[in-house]
Amino acid sequence: MSPVDFNRSGIRQVPDPCVVVIFGASGDLTRRKLMPSLFSLVCEKLLPDEFSVVGLARTEMDNDGFRQKIHEGIDSHGRLKPKDCDRWADFAQHIHYHQGEYDDPATYDGLCNLLGQIDQEVGGGCNILFYLSTPPVLYAPIIKQLGQAGLAVEPEGHWRRIIIEKPFGHDLASATQLNHDVHHVFNEDQVYRIDHYLGKETVQNLLVFRFANAIFEPLWNRNYIDHVQITVSEEVGLGSRAGYYDTAGVLRDMFQNHLLQLLTLTAMEPPAEFNATSLRDEKVKVLKAVQRIEPEGVGEFTVRGQYRTYRDEKGVAFNTNTATFAAARMYINNWRWRNVPFFLRSGKALAGKVTEIAVQFRHVPHLMFPLAPGEGLPANRLGLCLQPNEGILLHFETKLPGAGMRTRSVDMSYLYEQDFGANTLPDAYERLLLDALHGDASLFTRSDEIELAWRLIDPILQGWDSEHAPPLAFYESGTWGPSKSDEFIRTEKGRKWFSICTEC
Ligand code: BG6
Repeated sequence: MSPVDFNRSGIRQVPDPCVVVIFGASGDLTRRKLMPSLFSLVCEKLLPDEFSVVGLARTEMDNDGFRQKIHEGIDSHGRLKPKDCDRWADFAQHIHYHQGEYDDPATYDGLCNLLGQIDQEVGGGCNILFYLSTPPVLYAPIIKQLGQAGLAVEPEGHWRRIIIEKPFGHDLASATQLNHDVHHVFNEDQVYRIDHYLGKETVQNLLVFRFANAIFEPLWNRNYIDHVQITVSEEVGLGSRAGYYDTAGVLRDMFQNHLLQLLTLTAMEPPAEFNATSLRDEKVKVLKAVQRIEPEGVGEFTVRGQYRTYRDEKGVAFNTNTATFAAARMYINNWRWRNVPFFLRSGKALAGKVTEIAVQFRHVPHLMFPLAPGEGLPANRLGLCLQPNEGILLHFETKLPGAGMRTRSVDMSYLYEQDFGANTLPDAYERLLLDALHGDASLFTRSDEIELAWRLIDPILQGWDSEHAPPLAFYESGTWGPSKSDEFIRTEKGRKWFSICTEC
């Protein structure tokens, strides 16, 4: 069958002539993700000829030094590398570096001059996408300076947009303040808060899976679903991010954004249209319906853990209580999901890198097959495998061939790699950067969504900081987390965590 393209009837032209200005250009994200993604887009001919990048940072560097650094980054981390396409030499000429302090108005005078030159070179009419990839404390000062320099004002017929990296705030109060600071300078429709999980192909496929197929949606509710598990596990530990991570922990780093985003996409009602407003309205409704875990309830509804060698990591306080693992049981108080537990878990230094959503269906209402006492048949289970073995798996019962009536569980599976080949999935940042350049905010987080997510995380953080906190459970690296987490899910109906997608 030929593919159907839902984007503007299949016609997706290249974005308008534009400049991407990256704040924090000497950092890791620029080198490992942003520039490699932009280069892949250039190679795929998805960007306009009049496309430039300005990297801005405090580090002393000239254009050549910056280009060299970017070349190395693309070479090591790019999906498409300079050797894979003949566009590097030309692209490099359109990469500029501007050095300056983020809170110094002179930096922005210089930036305006540079943008003016680029604009002249392309014959005028350039649009600008700002990308904030600095430490978050610098977001407000940069936005203020952009406002004062007049760089947020959209000239007639041209756009100015801003992408803001996570973390967006440290808690509800700081996120609200940051939204306020942003809105002082930019209109909400100019703002793109990024959560790179939404750029992952398989996360987007959740929407297609649920809303382009008629057979699943009638079952997608409390009448047929026993519970849902969302797992985002990582093999890596802290890496070199102690400064950030030890003050953030897993709830801020993963739950407030990636896990809650996966929950909203799994639970939301079908939007009437495929556009940013409809999609985000439905996600917001889910977040409003999620029952808050109050500080007094964290012992019952959450587990917090830390891998045993975490306190030995460089830059981490020797007695830190920062959680590197968490599990939570959440409920969504609406007609579709009332009383269906959503179990969420995420952690570092675990047994594998897996992102999956497991939907456990209910048992059949009456089993006509005779079973020995104590025997039972497993209920159906659906696995949405988001990484690394991208695919979809349905677990069901079948008869074993031969005499008698013996059954066994089998899987019906669909694997991206088998259908589309290895390495065909673009990086999440490619998709998101391109969407922002096109002005499509569907896969970005709206201000109310961010605040509602913090409203759910804040009370858990408060509870963890109080006498109600569950004990910090230590776990060995390379395991699936503390045994407390298994006890936690078992307490209700003897459930257990699945790892469906590692079996793909
Ligand atoms: C980031 C977190 O947002 O997501 C990291 O800050 C985490 O701690 C990363 O490692 C995981 O992303 P991915 O795409 O590798 O699953």
